[in-house]
Amino acid sequence: GESVIRRDRFSGGPARSFLSSLAADERIFAADLAVDRAHVVMLAEQGIVESETAGEILTALDAVEVDGHGSLPDGEDVHEAIETAVIERIGADGGKMHTARSRNDEVATCIRYRFREDVLEALEATLGLRKALCEVAQTHTETVMPGYTHLQPAQPITVAHWALSYEGAVRRDTERLLEAYARVNQSPLGAAAFAGTTFDIDRERTADLLGFDAVLANSMDASSSRDFLLETTQALSTLATTLSGLAEDLVVFANRGFVKISDDYSSTSSIMPQKKNPDTLELVRATAGDAAAGVQGLTTTLKGLPRAYNIDLQRATPHAWETVDDVTDATEVAAGAVASADWNEETLAAEAGAGFSTATGVADLLAANGLPFRTAHELVAIAADNGADYDALEAASREVLGDSLEAHVDPAAVEAALDPVESVASRNSQGGPAPEAVAAQLEVAEDAVADD
Ligand code: ARG
Repeated sequence: GESVIRRDRFSGGPARSFLSSLAADERIFAADLAVDRAHVVMLAEQGIVESETAGEILTALDAVEVDGHGSLPDGEDVHEAIETAVIERIGADGGKMHTARSRNDEVATCIRYRFREDVLEALEATLGLRKALCEVAQTHTETVMPGYTHLQPAQPITVAHWALSYEGAVRRDTERLLEAYARVNQSPLGAAAFAGTTFDIDRERTADLLGFDAVLANSMDASSSRDFLLETTQALSTLATTLSGLAEDLVVFANRGFVKISDDYSSTSSIMPQKKNPDTLELVRATAGDAAAGVQGLTTTLKGLPRAYNIDLQRATPHAWETVDDVTDATEVAAGAVASADWNEETLAAEAGAGFSTATGVADLLAANGLPFRTAHELVAIAADNGADYDALEAASREVLGDSLEAHVDPAAVEAALDPVESVASRNSQGGPAPEAVAAQLEVAEDAVADD
């Protein structure tokens, strides 16, 4: 079809495909139809376009929708192509659809309309992951495992405590996305090119018809701001960073035989027949890089743009689309891998005390019995180098304190502190790994998932 906008002035030349966003705009095809409909209804209600013409335009839009994006006539973008298609159907009156608006407010509205859906899907995915983590916590409140700092055995924890550590982080990712969503869900429609319009339009009405919570008032701001894309992409990038840590933990735990990743989330080698690789989790881990690239792409595209609209903005949007797709997929895959993973309780119990991970608990016990914590730390450190058991502690006591350990602390209490299960149970501080403390955390987590 003949282009609506260029007419005879711009027939398109060697830069035509470089200029066009029509292919990428497929993502906002449905959004543009919704925006067109709302705008036309408002124009008719305001008496700006006759009802009969508005009706014809709406009927034509229905036909364009049925034919689909692939049948659109050529155009610089989806907005122009849909207008051309309407005019092809009902004649020049179809051009009344573009009264009192510009592609600048139109595209900004389409992006927000579609992006709302994308952000809601990402939010759903975070809820799915949080549910999966809560279920792991529910099942494994008593399953002790080694806890690490610097990837060295540090103190025993439980699988539930570990899982809820990620639920807490993903909960904040949900919050950040919800906050961003509120700012996505505002209507720029009616800003026109950037400087408003002479027509007596009703911006509240189109905002309402399109389900936006508010009108984005200043017409320059409305048509040219993309900070909503940036902040959402940043929130997604933060989520992806959380996911990358979760994925890395699972890769390491699988490597140590602590957890079996389901076959559904594993892959094999094309040459080494015995291999089972945690490929999906490695790809989840890598998604943080893609999301960071999305933030970078958006930031550098938006930086220094003058007011008002510039077509650089056409290349900003796909960064946000790719990021939201990648991060939503990664979140869903992480949820599936977590939900289907099989924790090896025996191996975990055997390893929970590895590397003298109960040492801190023993030092705490000595301090609770009156020794300065620093002295207790020194005594246990010496024992750690000499066998890391009761006998080693006894020898260290003679060396550091000049008498038997029994003179300072009940030997049964020391034996208990050396036991990973007892060690975990004794760390019952708020937010700690003891089953009781974790049960309280789990309740909060489950309530938060239900609320969000
Ligand atoms: N396709 C453009 C975009 O994505 C909207 C059209 C505005 N074009 C223009 N030359 N003012 O931003």
